[in-house]
Amino acid sequence: MKILVTGGAGFIGSALIRHLIADTDASVVNVDKLTYAGDLRTLEGFDARPRYHFEQHDICDRDAMAAIFARHRPDIVMNLAAETHVDRSIDGSAPFIATNIVGTHTLLELALGYWRGLDGEGRQRFRFHHVSTDEVFGALGQSGAFDEDSPYRPNSPYSASKAASDHLVRAWHHTYGLPAVVSNCSNNYGPFQFPEKLIPLTILNCIADKALPVYGRGENVRDWLHVEDHARALHLIATRGEPGRSYAVGGNSERTNLEVVTAICDAVDAALGRKGGSSAQLITFVADRPGHDFRYAIDAGRIARELGFAPSIDFAAGLRRTVRWYLEHEAWWRPLIEHRYAGQRLGLVS
Ligand code: NAD
Ligand code: DAU
Repeated sequence: MKILVTGGAGFIGSALIRHLIADTDASVVNVDKLTYAGDLRTLEGFDARPRYHFEQHDICDRDAMAAIFARHRPDIVMNLAAETHVDRSIDGSAPFIATNIVGTHTLLELALGYWRGLDGEGRQRFRFHHVSTDEVFGALGQSGAFDEDSPYRPNSPYSASKAASDHLVRAWHHTYGLPAVVSNCSNNYGPFQFPEKLIPLTILNCIADKALPVYGRGENVRDWLHVEDHARALHLIATRGEPGRSYAVGGNSERTNLEVVTAICDAVDAALGRKGGSSAQLITFVADRPGHDFRYAIDAGRIARELGFAPSIDFAAGLRRTVRWYLEHEAWWRPLIEHRYAGQRLGLVS
């Protein structure tokens, strides 16, 4: 089984590749452009592995991607390459339109031509798995949960670009028969997450004794899934998901942002021997994100029933483990905050 993973140098893509190489027999071709969010140190030592191969390309580059299909002849394509940060999409949407929409379209066209050229067994086996987000469904109120039948109501430039790509994948299945599946997952956390996202940003600010920015009153709710659980779910969906269907993936761990930030403060206090409650004094309420979605939650019944998936990492324990990981991996994140992103506020409409 050969799997072409796009975006494999990112947070979730690299966790997926670590899982595929460690826990399955699959060979992996990782195609990544290495944007500010891509980092091959997430896969240190992998170049020496016979079942792993890296290619640096932009998924929008049709010729380069056509050559990848021809040379590597994948059984499965898992598309994770994307621009992923909501705040950056508010500051500038162009790269989101290019990678998330045009890039996905480029891959769909190439995958379709490639799939049509396969023999019967190869055509039967081939899958195009598009990795997406729960944000395409918009915002929930105090109750309810998204599932596979939830209407699309994207609210940010990021989620609108992901929604567009989901629709393209659906259309390529419906119109051309391309065996494609989509997954829509809630917020991931864990090692190697770029420090622009809430959890790693808060951990690094907290370690440095800096202000911890919480948007609005910190009442917005997200559902959190450990990235290693998501990686397992993605492999199940790509190999056993039914073409033409989508799968909602969640962690069953809803928390307000203030609860998450406070839990990080407690974990950092404990790990660094600070007096209990001292880091929480760093919490600073700041101007809200424009268009901020209030709440996301997932009804993950389909993937549980049909593919036997359940999250295995409890959020409180996973968060403490993540705090310890950042404390022990300064060599990974220090160059990122010095050279790529220093933690300044993004995504404020002036
Ligand atoms: P990330 O930002 O950490 O990594 C994205 C990767 O894609 C980077 O390695 C980057 O270099 C690469 N990339 C970007 N543009 C590219 C291009 N044009 N060509 C090739 N490579 C390119 O993202 P992530 O958090 O790992 O998210 C991966 C996927 O999962 C995305 O599609 C995202 O929408 C989806 N997702 C993320 C979350 C989350 O909580 N992080 C939740 C649900 C779904
Ligand atoms: O739901 C899945 C999505 O989760 C993914 O599709 C996105 O790629 C991923 O970035 C994530 O989007 P969010 O916008 O939910 O993640 P972020 O970490 O940016 O913010 C989480 C919450 O924390 C959100 O309500 C905004 C808030 N926040 C964020 C930052 C960076 C703060 O209060 N302070 C901050 O400094």
